[in-house]
Amino acid sequence: MDSLDYVSPYLFRHRRRNFLTKDIMLPKDLDALLHDDIHPTDIFLVTYPKSGTVWMQQILVQIMEAALPGWGGDATNRIKIPWLEERLIDDPFRERPEPRIFGSHLPPDMLPVGVKEKRVKVSVVYVWRNPKDILVSMYHFAHSWVLLETPESFEDFYQQFLDGDVYMGSWFDHVREYCAAQDELDVHFVQYEEMSKDLRGEVVKLCAFLGKDLTDEAIDRVVEMSTFKNMKTNPKANYKDLVEINRYKKETMRKGKAGDWKNVFTVAQNEHFDSVFKDRMSDLPLSCTWEINE
Ligand code: A3P
Repeated sequence: MDSLDYVSPYLFRHRRRNFLTKDIMLPKDLDALLHDDIHPTDIFLVTYPKSGTVWMQQILVQIMEAALPGWGGDATNRIKIPWLEERLIDDPFRERPEPRIFGSHLPPDMLPVGVKEKRVKVSVVYVWRNPKDILVSMYHFAHSWVLLETPESFEDFYQQFLDGDVYMGSWFDHVREYCAAQDELDVHFVQYEEMSKDLRGEVVKLCAFLGKDLTDEAIDRVVEMSTFKNMKTNPKANYKDLVEINRYKKETMRKGKAGDWKNVFTVAQNEHFDSVFKDRMSDLPLSCTWEINE
């Protein structure tokens, strides 16, 4: 462990991104992922942290179970869609039923090379979210998750986020790199705020991308099972099995709202964030939704 390039006692730097020191993945393990055996039917769910990964995990599980009854059996979503860069000791990684789905926060250049070569559907599903809400969600998460350092203050964390000194590095780079990789990857972008506004519409688009032809009733059920309210009380969907590494011993579903940053950012932080955002992202074809009026 001593040879790690430490950013803090909780994070080490590898290939310009930050990983967890308390995780079981060392640089050599992360590099080994590049050579993972990829099947043409594999699907990757890729996100920057706190963008709605667990939400999309539930949606994908529901779509697969409707399309392929019995897919993945009776396990929790965490087992059905395992984390690429978090190998569980007894994870039957290669033996799961096809299509296999993996979750990941890795940037495009750290995904298994087969994802690009076989044009796997990343059937990348890339979920992205407005970065002000990600910052606030991550700030709260860093208080509760034992693998992350508890922030000294919101001001400190705000600066760390902008500097990319947080888990997985810079949000700005992550999103930019996935935009730039669109020609190499078979990638479908989904925006958190669009799911908040019209979950059914986004599920229909996702089914079309994945080639899953569901009935209207089946789509209704996917939507119903994936609401914040229903997921919060569903132990298969809400990561309840990980409460032991939560400092508050709670599941991780917090508020699930677009625009919560307005309760936390000062006016000055907001103006500053907007100017950084404009400098760093204005050339990208992405338009953030900063809040939704309910
Ligand atoms: P908040 O902390 O703002 O509540 P991830 O899964 O990538 O870690 O993202 C976590 C964020 O997604 C949390 O945001 C969580 O509440 C939100 N989330 C999870 N399921 C959701 C759902 N069904 N609807 C809306 N938001 C959801």
